[in-house]
Amino acid sequence: MHRVSTKNQTLNFFTESVFERHTMNFWLQKMNPLWSTYQMLGRICKREKVADDIFTLTLECNKRMQFGLSGQHHPVIVEIAGRRYERTYSLTQIDDRHVQLTLKQVPNGIVSTWLCQTAKINDVIEFGVPYGDMLLDAPDLNDVVLLAAGSGITPMYSMLYALEKKGLLAKLNIHLMYWAKHQEGVAFKQVFEQWAEKYPLFKLDILCTQDNETPAQRLNELHVSNIEQLDTKTVFACGPSGFVNTAAQLFQDAKVFKSEAFSLTPIENNEEGTVKLTLTRSNKIVEVQKGQGLLDALEQAQIKPIYGCRMGICNKCACNKVSGVTKNTIDQSENAEPNNSVRICVNSAKSDLVLDL
Ligand code: FES
Repeated sequence: MHRVSTKNQTLNFFTESVFERHTMNFWLQKMNPLWSTYQMLGRICKREKVADDIFTLTLECNKRMQFGLSGQHHPVIVEIAGRRYERTYSLTQIDDRHVQLTLKQVPNGIVSTWLCQTAKINDVIEFGVPYGDMLLDAPDLNDVVLLAAGSGITPMYSMLYALEKKGLLAKLNIHLMYWAKHQEGVAFKQVFEQWAEKYPLFKLDILCTQDNETPAQRLNELHVSNIEQLDTKTVFACGPSGFVNTAAQLFQDAKVFKSEAFSLTPIENNEEGTVKLTLTRSNKIVEVQKGQGLLDALEQAQIKPIYGCRMGICNKCACNKVSGVTKNTIDQSENAEPNNSVRICVNSAKSDLVLDL
């Protein structure tokens, strides 16, 4: 064992010192597109349509893959027409080499359209380090309510799939409420229905809000009042920010409440006028629309800050706000504290700002 590791260290030293990392990678990938000295890569093995505009890709991962915990998000990096794009998706780990990526094709979405339509079998995509703390792993877990809307079902599915594999769906009280517009847009429908039939403790409500015959109601007080002993429940919510905000208000008395806004509903910007952003590191001053998301505003001004999820989850876009007032575009809260970390993807400017960017 010791001899093998010494040999590996020597080999690593040799390859790192003799070949430049990227050059080495380039030649390795000529031999096998999944080989890499540093990248987590996945090869598309299969793509299937699982609901209206929703596709599941099965990917074989290389040995560098860092599989996240069920419910976490993975940065997914693809190259389209010579440009790299990063988006964030939930993955479901199928076995020790394969994951499934389920996503909705978004109108005009460059990456989702590429993954759902253009990418071919054997194309390779890159993954980043997984993150997120919406995990069903507490040792005392028993009563769980999962609230999902639209694409917010994907992390829920990933967690439920892992629980099923461990035999825990037979032991835990789990109530899944899943909102979609139409039955045709319900992902994993068959699997959920099979689980509901097989496991008496797994309760399923699929709520379609735009089906002609009996449209279901959006999340409201009635759904909460049907849940007994809310203060004993662990509640997770995932979906558009409006849905998640409503869930946070309705389920504030739950024992545990965690949520993730899977996508942002467009910000209704009623603010008028412009404000100045002073960027201390790049030594620039930019005039932006009051109320506009800071990341979007900076990109429009041809400034390219680092970002990851664009949903306020990964913290990659966070920078220090030296002064000024920001407004959170998800929960509308304002922050006037100086020297405060601000995630620019989910904050807008209420006043002139000085940012360490
Ligand atoms: S880009 Fe992920 S939190 Fe802003």
